[in-house]
Amino acid sequence: MTSTLFAKYDVPVPRYTSYPTVPAWHAAPTAAQWTASLQRALADPSATLSLYVHLPFCESLCTFCGCNTVITRDHGRSSPYIDRVLSELDMYVRMVPSLAERQLSQLHLGGGTPTFASAEELARLVDGILSRLAASGSGRFTGSVEADPRVTSAAQLRALRERRFTRLSLGVQDFNAETQRLVNRIQSPALVASLVTEARAAGYESINFDLIYGLPGQTPASMQRLADEVLRLAPDRLAVYSFARVPWIKPAQRKFTDAQIPVAAEKRALYDVIRRPLLAAGYLELGMDHFARPDDPLARAAAAGTLYRNFQGYTEARTNVLLGLGVSAISESADCYHQNEKVIAVYDRRIDRNEIPTHRGHVLSADDRRRREQIVAVMTRFAVTLDDAQAADAREFLAPMLEDGLAVLEGNELRVPAAGRAFIRNIATFFDEYFRASQPAAPMYSRSI
Ligand SMILES: C[S@@+](CC[C@H](N)C(=O)[O-])C[C@H]1O[C@@H](n2cnc3c(N)ncnc32)[C@H](O)[C@@H]1O
Ligand code: SF4
Repeated sequence: MTSTLFAKYDVPVPRYTSYPTVPAWHAAPTAAQWTASLQRALADPSATLSLYVHLPFCESLCTFCGCNTVITRDHGRSSPYIDRVLSELDMYVRMVPSLAERQLSQLHLGGGTPTFASAEELARLVDGILSRLAASGSGRFTGSVEADPRVTSAAQLRALRERRFTRLSLGVQDFNAETQRLVNRIQSPALVASLVTEARAAGYESINFDLIYGLPGQTPASMQRLADEVLRLAPDRLAVYSFARVPWIKPAQRKFTDAQIPVAAEKRALYDVIRRPLLAAGYLELGMDHFARPDDPLARAAAAGTLYRNFQGYTEARTNVLLGLGVSAISESADCYHQNEKVIAVYDRRIDRNEIPTHRGHVLSADDRRRREQIVAVMTRFAVTLDDAQAADAREFLAPMLEDGLAVLEGNELRVPAAGRAFIRNIATFFDEYFRASQPAAPMYSRSI
């Protein structure tokens, strides 16, 4: 693939973890509309539920980070925070009693850094959630946790494993010493290796590594060394994220100069240096940026065509409701998105007043919902059926990509061949009427590559 293509298509586009994307949300639900949406989505006794709990605390700031975090060394903050998360769940269960009766499929602890909380606090959080959902037969859920190796202990891993957690995601990012220094995140392969050993011994079934390409200081040679280290540690899955650079939202990213950040073909080459040895070692490439061993549940979901994409990235199961608890957490139902307050002091105050802490959201129109399904199909299955009007529109809108062989349109079937995978976000913009209607004057999204 020529570097011209990367220069041509490396423009700011959404990552499509939702549709409409967050900047396009314009129809926030009231608390009553939001709980009514949950009620509708859970009306059927066979409906399923996922819970996402956002634990925002981190001891120090990694300067690349795009997550919603609270940087503090005061570990006394996690216990009152957990109380508020449990109060938030109480509030929902009072307003939407079916929440406690439907099957809990997934319980994900994300952040920030969930393992900022102690083993005892994590145990209290999970026990508190499961006791509130006891009627749901919550014993069958898949539990997963994001862990920063620098602050994660065997005791925390054991506490969660005892509560039937089976998935662990370790933030590895990169082992290159210069990159670690530049992004303020020093962690050795030995530290990660010891946690992998602890997690395997405790019985975790799927271990994921998060890596990032496009960070300052990375070179093809450093990425090759990273690939070698990673293959030695043999995770079950990997998320290999493109560095999302949004300095207008995350000022710490201003610490890097433009000259330090690889873009376009140079950046994509770093991804390819990781990708090739992973494929050679038998991992499958899933969606836009994930890899998994063929027997991992994520790979099985991809093979079965049931992979889904939400705010947590690619996920193996789509449930009728994803309920996000905690500061800045995002929820998704059939016809609504909902995000909690992003400022922790405001979140705390609103929970203490027994209010649903809505920050923003979006009630989806029928057209939004149809476009969401099409974007999910493109992002997960690389194929989607268009109606006649869309097919005519696609011939025009996607003409450059069709000519460059990055997309294929046969009748009303739009496909993304292997060559187009790197440009999947650009192709998805075809379905995004908000993006197409308003090409923003100020940057809103990270670049596509
Ligand atoms: C909440 S963190 C993971 C847990 C823990 N805080 C840690 O860092 O190990 C989620 C993941 O998002 C990814 N991430 C954060 N900021 C990013 C950015 N600007 N671009 C791409 N990926 C990013 C990182 O790979 C990180 O592991
Ligand atoms: S990457 Fe993880 S540890 Fe670093 S600041 Fe972001 S959430 Fe915290």
